[in-house]
Amino acid sequence: MKETLVEAQGLRKVYQNGVPVEALRGVDLTIKKGEFVAVQGPSGSGKSTLLHLVGTLDRPTEGELRIAGQDVLALKGNALADFRRKHIGFVFQMFYLIPEMTALENVMLPLKPYRRKLAFDLEARARELLEQVGLEHRMHHYPNQLSGGEQQRVAIARALVNRPTLLLADEPTGNLDAKTGEQIMHLLEILRQEYGLTILLVTHNDAIARYADRVLYLRDGVFVT
Ligand SMILES: Nc1ncnc2c1ncn2[C@@H]1O[C@H](COP(=O)(O)OP(=O)(O)O)[C@@H](O)[C@H]1O
Ligand SMILES: [Mg+2]
Repeated sequence: MKETLVEAQGLRKVYQNGVPVEALRGVDLTIKKGEFVAVQGPSGSGKSTLLHLVGTLDRPTEGELRIAGQDVLALKGNALADFRRKHIGFVFQMFYLIPEMTALENVMLPLKPYRRKLAFDLEARARELLEQVGLEHRMHHYPNQLSGGEQQRVAIARALVNRPTLLLADEPTGNLDAKTGEQIMHLLEILRQEYGLTILLVTHNDAIARYADRVLYLRDGVFVT
């Protein structure tokens, strides 16, 4: 039996700004270490909300969530930030690179404040990751000098700079053409093997979901079969 990495029970999320919106209505989710799980569903079905909750960027209104054996809802402030930095990497549809920073600087950014405390050389790791994503010749380029696919590669390298256990990806190919999207998925496959990553990816694209071991369907805030 493989170790369980993510265990969510009865996740409910009600957004309270203005008219309350029940974005998740009781979601159970178990992900084993090393699994690649895709969540598919139409726009507004709660995919991003689920990813934010699992990524500890937001808290559920109700429910339980354990990641790597830790009750993450019991963590606050620095302890929560430390947990996230140790275990979780994020990739988003919009890349969110800092335009004034080179590819290399963008990859180093998440760990820059902790540089002195790290047991490894941050720049060497960032260079190695950029090589792995095929950007050894683009390290000193700025985001606006890179194609969409290249920018997403930088974002993936940045997401892996902390060697996360769990990679969360929210429509990572949503801003890319089909061919570039396939290349990004192929890269994620390789990185998954290399680092023994567990991946939770949301997409509304069948071709992208096909890369996963398992696909779950979200509709109006609940999983459907
Ligand atoms: N910050 C927020 N405040 C209020 N409502 C939100 C917020 N984020 C998402 N929602 C609403 O929650 C529902 C689910 O949104 P979301 O998780 O972004 O869906 P998806 O990623 O599947 O498109 C939608 O009805 C959306 O409008
Ligand atoms: Mg979304």
